[in-house]
Amino acid sequence: MNRKFNGFIAKFSGLAAVAALALCACNEQKTEKAAAEQPAEQAVAQPAEQTAPSKSLVVFYSQNGATKTVAEIFQKERNADVFEISLVQPYPSTYDSTIAAVRDQRESKQWPALVNAKADLAKYDTVFLGYPIMFGSFAPPIYSFLDSNDLSGKVVVPFCTYGSGGRKASASELKTLAPNANVTLAYGISNKRVTAEGADSVVSAEVETFFANLAEGKTEEMLMGGYSEQRPLTAEDSAVFAAATKDYAYLGLKPLSVSTQVVAGTNFLFTCEMKAFGGPATQTNVKIFRPLPGRGEPELIVVEK
Ligand SMILES: Cc1cc2nc3c(=O)[nH]c(=O)nc-3n(C[C@H](O)[C@H](O)[C@H](O)COP(=O)(O)O)c2cc1C
Repeated sequence: MNRKFNGFIAKFSGLAAVAALALCACNEQKTEKAAAEQPAEQAVAQPAEQTAPSKSLVVFYSQNGATKTVAEIFQKERNADVFEISLVQPYPSTYDSTIAAVRDQRESKQWPALVNAKADLAKYDTVFLGYPIMFGSFAPPIYSFLDSNDLSGKVVVPFCTYGSGGRKASASELKTLAPNANVTLAYGISNKRVTAEGADSVVSAEVETFFANLAEGKTEEMLMGGYSEQRPLTAEDSAVFAAATKDYAYLGLKPLSVSTQVVAGTNFLFTCEMKAFGGPATQTNVKIFRPLPGRGEPELIVVEK
């Protein structure tokens, strides 16, 4: 089932209306890789360490399945236990009514009741906490979870899926709400990329890199290393920008300057003026990845400050 998210205007805590950054969310559940692909002996012989009690827990909420796909990859990667947050009263099935319900919850701070409010966290050192971005930060069920569970002393690794962004903002809100937890670098990926055909291998590879960065203690600043200085756009930069943002017209993005980082392909960091949903102009950064020649089209990775 494909659902088109058309965008919305969000209000936060009585502040002026803020244009939020939802995008097309094509929430198709991925088909599990056939178990038959696994060699038979793998199913029988379990290495001792795989049967040892897990010290990590993946806690996640997912309305439409994108975050669940990433949660499953985290679970496999870390051999973690899983705790899926479920709502007593699930959100409505249409996008517009979900927007209305979430807006009400944010304005009233009446977070939704959970079927399973309390997780047994005592035996875990590390909690991977996954959520969709809604109105620029966590989906409301995460506030409910934080109200009922104490993450103090835990290593908390946030991960999220989004239309266009919200990874950094949500991770910094988590640090405020769980001040005694050790909140690490966060992982985030757009809905479009998680639900694309063949995404499983792309996401798995990205999650592995993310864990390598975590293990090396890399910070946001370190990940931004290796970018050139911002410079005026060339015709080639403009073409890359146009190709990667063609589905994001509602954000009203106008690139002003760019810097690049050579990886296996090229990362572009565009400084842009944004007029989301025709709202007031703000300045934002748009990260785009262009694969090596012949390996695919430029794609938008994230829009954020
Ligand atoms: C009510 C609502 C609000 C959203 N707000 C944002 C937002 O502020 N920024 C954003 O980038 N995406 C936003 N999105 C898009 C979701 O974050 C995205 O589709 C996500 O992948 C959904 O995850 P799920 O399939 O696990 O439910 C919003 C979606 C909904 C339904």
